[in-house]
Amino acid sequence: MRVSKLALRGFMSHDQMDVELPDRGVVLVTGPNGAGKSSIVEGVAAAVWGKTTRGASPWRDGEKGSAAVEVDEERVERTRSPAGRTKVAWPTSGAKYDTARAAQTAIDARWGDLATWQRTSVFSASDASTFTGATDAERKRMLERLLGLGRFDAAHKAVRADLRTAQADARDAERAHEATLARLQSAKDAVTARAEALAALAPPGDAGLTDADADDADAALAALDAEVRRAKTELRDAERAQAEVERKLAAAADKARDAQRALKRLESMGECPTCQQPISEHRLDAARAAAAYAIDAADACEAAEGDALAAARADVEDCEDTLAALQRKANAARAAAADIAARLQAAKRAAGAADQQRAGLAAAQREVAALTARSLTDAKTREEAAEEVALLEATEGVLGTRGVRATVTASALSGLEAVANHWLGRVAGDRITVTLGASTALKGGGTTDTIDLVVHGAGGGNGYRGASAGERRRIDVAMLFALAETASAAAGRDPGTLWVDEAFDSLDTDGVAAVCAALAEVAAERCVVVITHNHDLADSLSPVQHIRVG
Ligand SMILES: Nc1ncnc2c1ncn2[C@@H]1O[C@H](COP(=O)(O)OP(=O)(O)OP(=O)(O)O)[C@@H](O)[C@H]1O
Ligand SMILES: [Mg+2]
Repeated sequence: MRVSKLALRGFMSHDQMDVELPDRGVVLVTGPNGAGKSSIVEGVAAAVWGKTTRGASPWRDGEKGSAAVEVDEERVERTRSPAGRTKVAWPTSGAKYDTARAAQTAIDARWGDLATWQRTSVFSASDASTFTGATDAERKRMLERLLGLGRFDAAHKAVRADLRTAQADARDAERAHEATLARLQSAKDAVTARAEALAALAPPGDAGLTDADADDADAALAALDAEVRRAKTELRDAERAQAEVERKLAAAADKARDAQRALKRLESMGECPTCQQPISEHRLDAARAAAAYAIDAADACEAAEGDALAAARADVEDCEDTLAALQRKANAARAAAADIAARLQAAKRAAGAADQQRAGLAAAQREVAALTARSLTDAKTREEAAEEVALLEATEGVLGTRGVRATVTASALSGLEAVANHWLGRVAGDRITVTLGASTALKGGGTTDTIDLVVHGAGGGNGYRGASAGERRRIDVAMLFALAETASAAAGRDPGTLWVDEAFDSLDTDGVAAVCAALAEVAAERCVVVITHNHDLADSLSPVQHIRVG
């Protein structure tokens, strides 16, 4: 991030401060404590990110203020009202943003975040050892952020969430498939059981028997019953005719008997009981004639009706025979009809049971077909879910810390190490060198990727922490220069302005000389703003510009 102009109004200790910076060369900033030297660095941070590197507000209470920078040929201005409202303007972007947050997101996308700028472009006494003094794991995170690998975190997180969902889906699909297979197996068992039950059914013996047969038998029986009724009527008629003939014969016989009895009484009386006159012969003759007539009439009747009686009796017998024969036939027909009805009933029951089994078998077969289709769909879903899981696992692996990031980090590390050793050669001679290596450390039951920094030639075998303050500062300087170059290269930007705020003040004369030489080298390519109280350093530098504050 190359800063060419800075204008501060009502900002920290500055009522008004305007700075113009060259593209390259050393710019020296000197002044007493509290004069407002570091405020220049804070001005850049406040204008671009609305924050300061020290974390405190740079605005004066109840006063209007502003910080404007020209950076990489663009202008960004932050203003602050007396009421405390801040606004950001980035007119050169040509874009309109609805909220300050949206504008800030766009600014961050353009120049990266404050932390990265601070780490790669600002070198102050307090954060000189940010990288070197960090833990191995912090260093790894810092380098990843520096290289812009942080965006892998979001993608990695999203993929891991997707993977968890896909794994749950895959488990569901697996369970669904297993459940369908279990149901399919029971449906197949049901088909077998139904088929066996159907085969086990007794073959219907009277399969040909129909309702018509039963109707015919009933009709035959009804016809016979009608004939029986008719025969009974005929028998009754014959019996009546016989009785009539017998009544006639009995009446004639009665008359003859009465006439003979009357004659006998007359003959036995001798005289009339009323008039005591002897019974006359004439009267006796008349009685005899009447008796003879009655006997003749009875005989004639017997002669006349004898055949009729015989015929009537024969008729009655015939009728009785006919009726008996018909009743036998009717009984046989009733038994036959009952037998047909019973057999038909049994045949119907057997057919009903078979139909039921067949319907059950068909339903079970349909169930098998449906579940077979379902199991195929389930298997496909399961396969797709497994493929999704495999794909996401692969993606997770690529985006994970051991994937492409590890490759990028590893190649960046060797570059960083080479550049750091180049600068170490400048500021510490060939005595001190560093080795940077990525490794995986065991931590809390899991593993953490780290970047270890091994210092050779200082610290008596205890590395950076064992080194003297001056040595540590030289290592810090070398690392800072290396990080600044690596960050610029990773961002694809020209090296920007480098801000050095009292970072070299603890160096001895040799150190100052070495750092000045290194700074001169760096300043050949970029502008280096050096804020210092160190007179040696101030005198040793050949600044292209000297800003005196206060
Ligand atoms: N919000 C603020 N309002 C007014 N003054 C502030 C505000 N914040 C900081 N200051 C003051 O601004 C002054 C300049 O601070 P700055 O850090 O720039 O000093 P410096 O020149 O770098 O000093 P040193 O040499 O001690 O580092 C300090 O006196 C500080 O207390
Ligand atoms: Mg300061």
